[in-house]
Amino acid sequence: MSIYRGRFAGRAAIVTGGASGLGRATARRLIAEGARVSLWDLDGDMLGESQEATGAEHFVAVDVADPAAVAAAASQSQAALGRVDILVTSAGITGATAPVHEYPLESWRRVIDVNLNGIFYCCREIVPLMLANGYGRIVNVASVAGKEGNPNASAYSASKAGVIGFTKSLGKELATKGVLVNCITPATFESPILDQLPPSQVEYMRSRIPMGRLGEAQESAALVCWLVSDECSFSTAATFDTSGGRTTY
Ligand SMILES: NC(=O)c1ccc[n+]([C@@H]2O[C@H](COP(=O)([O-])OP(=O)(O)OC[C@H]3O[C@@H](n4cnc5c(N)ncnc54)[C@H](O)[C@@H]3O)[C@@H](O)[C@H]2O)c1
Repeated sequence: MSIYRGRFAGRAAIVTGGASGLGRATARRLIAEGARVSLWDLDGDMLGESQEATGAEHFVAVDVADPAAVAAAASQSQAALGRVDILVTSAGITGATAPVHEYPLESWRRVIDVNLNGIFYCCREIVPLMLANGYGRIVNVASVAGKEGNPNASAYSASKAGVIGFTKSLGKELATKGVLVNCITPATFESPILDQLPPSQVEYMRSRIPMGRLGEAQESAALVCWLVSDECSFSTAATFDTSGGRTTY
């Protein structure tokens, strides 16, 4: 992995879902390239471990599905870092694996609350901090499921399609304000989130990837870090693919 030393010098970032998987890998790279980072996650124990592993300056245990908690976390991160230039929203869950006619209502609601409403709450709190500085880079983590739909994953697929639509809308709203908003649509990546799924579902998703393998977290981090860098200057409201060839549109 190439490191662009100093690429994020002077920048401050919040990474939700920063305790694990793609969020942790992104935080690690941001920090290696000079950013000061506040990690947000529901899992307090893993947060401490991730702070040690990444060198993050600050962390907050927060449920992104709770708007009041998100507002409080935004204030804490702003106070700790002094500014917020970058937001990466990686917190997410898969929900139940079941056909629509058997899908548990509670799981549906929780998936939409965490994966979609949570991103709305985070952007709602952080965008004003970015507008105050006339600069910001936001990357929302959607999924290939939001483009294609995975069978037996209707809540997840719908939530991620929502993230794509939300990102397009917000990106256009802020297009002349110096705040760029994009999302990524990963196919299946090696990460603890796969433990939430039956092996047959993971195998289905792997079999759909033309490269014939799962992605690795640092491959996602590489794309996200370009999207939140100064070098990303003419891309907003867009969806960037990282799927080993699975989606070609
Ligand atoms: N790994 C994949 O195959 C894959 C593919 C496409 C998209 N994604 C998306 O990437 C993102 C990161 O996934 P990952 O693979 O790193 O999974 P992961 O489980 O390793 O990490 C997700 C993190 O989000 C946190 N989280 C869950 N609910 C939360 C809540 N309510 N509030 C705050 N934090 C919460 C978890 O504690 C965890 O640390 C997710 O949005 C996921 O949907 C993952």
